[in-house]
Amino acid sequence: MIRTILLGPPGAGKGTQAVRMVEKYDIPHISTGDIFRENIKNGTELGKKAQAYISKGELVPDDLVVEIATDRLLKDDCQKGFILDGFPRTVFQAEKLDEFLAAHGQKLTTVINLEVSPEVLMPRLTGRRVCRNCGASFHIVSMPPKKEGVCDICGGELFQRPDDNEETARNRIAVYDKQTRPLTDYYQKKGCLSNIDGAQSAEDTFQSIVDALEANA
Ligand code: AP5
Ligand code: MG
Repeated sequence: MIRTILLGPPGAGKGTQAVRMVEKYDIPHISTGDIFRENIKNGTELGKKAQAYISKGELVPDDLVVEIATDRLLKDDCQKGFILDGFPRTVFQAEKLDEFLAAHGQKLTTVINLEVSPEVLMPRLTGRRVCRNCGASFHIVSMPPKKEGVCDICGGELFQRPDDNEETARNRIAVYDKQTRPLTDYYQKKGCLSNIDGAQSAEDTFQSIVDALEANA
């Protein structure tokens, strides 16, 4: 049973690795960022509230996030395990997740911490392109689609996330350092942190993740 968190700064490769993990382990990928973007696209109340923060690269308030994440974890498909991507992002959120797991008799397998230096993160973010239709992620240099602007998987149109402009991306990295990086200590102290070099190729990073998950299973 795998119950894991992908921790790491914007552009570390959380989404990229989650896709591979879903394929290998057949467990749900829960990205709070994706849930917010879906709500923004559909014009929901949650989407309207979240957009103001996301567009500036700030964190959405804890109470909104904890509710959507724990609601999602209650769904039946999470009985076979889960991959959390982008949640928790503050110590408060991590404590709420611990309370939720304890109340449901569950324990994390291990927390995967993808380590990537800021010089590598910026070009990854500004060069990312995402499919409007299926959400697949590409990169104009490191993972270019076969045809420019077109998704290899479904033929959908590729676009740039509005928060991937240089200014917002820089703020997201700063916000990570201040508000999320303390979680590495939090999980280290609990003895469940696996540090992975996320600057390797996507394939090698994936192999390192699989090794860490299986060593702690
Ligand atoms: P979220 O969607 O979670 O964004 P993020 O954490 O900033 O992370 P990214 O999705 O940008 O990066 P990633 O690590 O998934 O990288 P990817 O694999 O795509 O959150 C967005 C916003 O929502 C937040 O700013 C906040 O406002 C809000 N939010 C979400 N959760 C929240 C929470 N819990 N609390 C409060 N607010 C919350 O890769 C990036 C690029 O690099 C791609 O182009 C990819 O092709 C390329 N790449 C990946 N791996 C490699 C590799 N090994 N080598 C070369 N290129 C690579
Ligand atoms: Mg992502």
